Amino acid sequence: MDLHLKGRRILVIGGSYGIGKATAALLVKEGAEVIIASRSAENLTAAAADIAAETGADAPRTLVCDLTQAGAGEVLTQAVADHWGGALDGLISAVGGSIRSAFEDLSDDDWMANYQFNVLSTVRAIRALLPALEAGNAPSIVTLGAAASKMPYQHQIASNVHKAGLLGLNKTLAAELAPRGIRVNLVAPGRTVTPLWTNRADKMSAEDGRSREEIFAEFSRDIPLARFGQPEEVAVMAVWMSSPLASYVTGQAVNVDGGIARGLL
Ligand SMILES: NC(=O)c1ccc[n+]([C@@H]2O[C@H](COP(=O)([O-])OP(=O)(O)OC[C@H]3O[C@@H](n4cnc5c(N)ncnc54)[C@H](OP(=O)(O)O)[C@@H]3O)[C@@H](O)[C@H]2O)c1
Repeated sequence: MDLHLKGRRILVIGGSYGIGKATAALLVKEGAEVIIASRSAENLTAAAADIAAETGADAPRTLVCDLTQAGAGEVLTQAVADHWGGALDGLISAVGGSIRSAFEDLSDDDWMANYQFNVLSTVRAIRALLPALEAGNAPSIVTLGAAASKMPYQHQIASNVHKAGLLGLNKTLAAELAPRGIRVNLVAPGRTVTPLWTNRADKMSAEDGRSREEIFAEFSRDIPLARFGQPEEVAVMAVWMSSPLASYVTGQAVNVDGGIARGLL
């Protein structure tokens, strides 16, 4: 199927590894022009080389930008101005993550840091890039939320709250930005094999001596498809939502979670 992504200018924040990198790779494969942004020049350079090798296409451009910092919006805007004359066809935000902790162990600072990471990072990027998106062609915004926003996980209260907040952001912005021609959607992954989870499993492994495989097996038990997802399986949804084929889809939050979230809605 032709996703009509050829030549579309798409910025992926949180694109140096994990779901963001897999999304950028698929976009490049489909002929899109891509900028990947993250905090680390080293990670970005490695990701760009991997993507070029994997797709046989030109490497995506890279941009060092820490989305938890107040000036991040200007950094993104400047890059879009420099490379694409200030016009952007798609923004995908894969910045975010969770803290495993009991409720009473989380300080105000922990809550604020997780809010910056999961919500304000995306808010900042969208707000700064609205003029560029308005100048783009059939523009779209896709945010990575989490299945936890529909079925909260134990011991992840901060991200449960903040990812639920992204659902509100998604629905509200979809209505607010529709008159300006911008679609807004969200992909809600379940447990996915990325550094977010491999690092977590390695930490657990150091604490209790189980292997990474044993930990993944344990956390697969409540997943109907009985396994973790691969980043590429999540990327497909983000890429489709960003494509002109999804022209009548806005304000939607679609789980790619192996069936873990059991609610009807
Ligand atoms: N993996 C899962 O099981 C899972 C489940 C549910 C939801 N999600 C959500 O899906 C999204 C992607 O998850 P993932 O598993 O791919 O995460 P990941 O493996 O931790 O990758 C996160 C990406 O964001 C970048 N990043 C981190 N902090 C940043 C910052 N302050 N500014 C800019 N970039 C930053 C990282 O690159 P640098 O280190 O180079 O900055 C990396 O490219 C997140 O929103 C996550 O909450 C993931």
